[in-house]
Amino acid sequence: MFVKKGTILSGMRPTGALHLGNYFGALENWVKLQNDYDCYFFVADWHALTTGYEDTTQIKNNINDLVIDWISAGLDPDKCNIFLQSSIREHAELHLLFSMTTPLSWLLRCPTYKDQLNQLKDKNITTYGFLGYPCLQASDILIYKAGFVPVGEDQLPHLELTREIARRFNHIFSEVFPEPEAILTKAKVLPGIDGRKMSKSYDNTIALSDSPQDVINKVKLMVTDPARIRKDDPGHPDVCTVFSFHKVFNEGEVAEIEEMCKGGKIGCVQCKKNLANKMTEYLEPIYERRQEVLKKPDLIKEIIHKGNENARKVAQKTMEDVRRAMKIDYM
Ligand code: TRP
Ligand code: SF4
Repeated sequence: MFVKKGTILSGMRPTGALHLGNYFGALENWVKLQNDYDCYFFVADWHALTTGYEDTTQIKNNINDLVIDWISAGLDPDKCNIFLQSSIREHAELHLLFSMTTPLSWLLRCPTYKDQLNQLKDKNITTYGFLGYPCLQASDILIYKAGFVPVGEDQLPHLELTREIARRFNHIFSEVFPEPEAILTKAKVLPGIDGRKMSKSYDNTIALSDSPQDVINKVKLMVTDPARIRKDDPGHPDVCTVFSFHKVFNEGEVAEIEEMCKGGKIGCVQCKKNLANKMTEYLEPIYERRQEVLKKPDLIKEIIHKGNENARKVAQKTMEDVRRAMKIDYM
């Protein structure tokens, strides 16, 4: 039998449609990893509450849409476990126990905590739950005794805290948790169509759910080298959004395009047409899978149910280990 290389866990908060930045930042890698590792991928709906507890009306739809994005991108529920954080109450129990052992100073000095407090000034997130965000994340990871966590660089402080929380637990009680390692996703950087960072708040994204026609329209809107007025003006591909996309979707032709652009031998309209073709070709299977998923109204629910069952077994087993190690398994 083929032996898996270890256990992987990762999650995303259900905050709306994924865009190509999210796809190349994480999901593309998850799809590869599911073949070689025992994978647990979950929707972090409790984490979504930490910064958005007042309005919960969108969460249910966002959970559904997120899993549709995952399946469309190629996550295969026969190869990996896809589940919902709040369905596995054991995460909350472990979070509570970790909240006993985690020094307040570790949470207060976490860089993501300070950043978010500054950035989300309009929301009241000076809460106990938000401070404990990394503690909940540590529970998500450690309850599956995951060895590897594929994340973006922004999550490294949380992973470091997770290791510290594990180490402290093992030291005070007994060796229950392995210390997980990050699998850093090589950053393929895609800007938004306006050249800034791709982000929903800038309204410059290409969604994974965009139709081929949407993609074509958005490529037409992409900003190019502003110094190029006429077709034979020499261009600067390094400042051109279209060129950044060619680097990701059209690796075979980048060198040639760079040369032709610099020599004023290709026009932007043609260059964009070429890109739109490459992108729609790449995204077509994702779009097709989405159409299939959308035909089956109960599919996503069934996938999550099945994933929950598998995840719960592991989580319950770990909680038995934890209670025993802490000698609180009195009843
Ligand atoms: N904090 C992560 C993010 O915002 C989401 C997350 C929650 C997560 N728990 C996790 C990621 C556990 C990896 C492992 O992207
Ligand atoms: Fe950008 Fe292509 Fe135009 Fe050069 S030719 S500026 S790479 S769109």
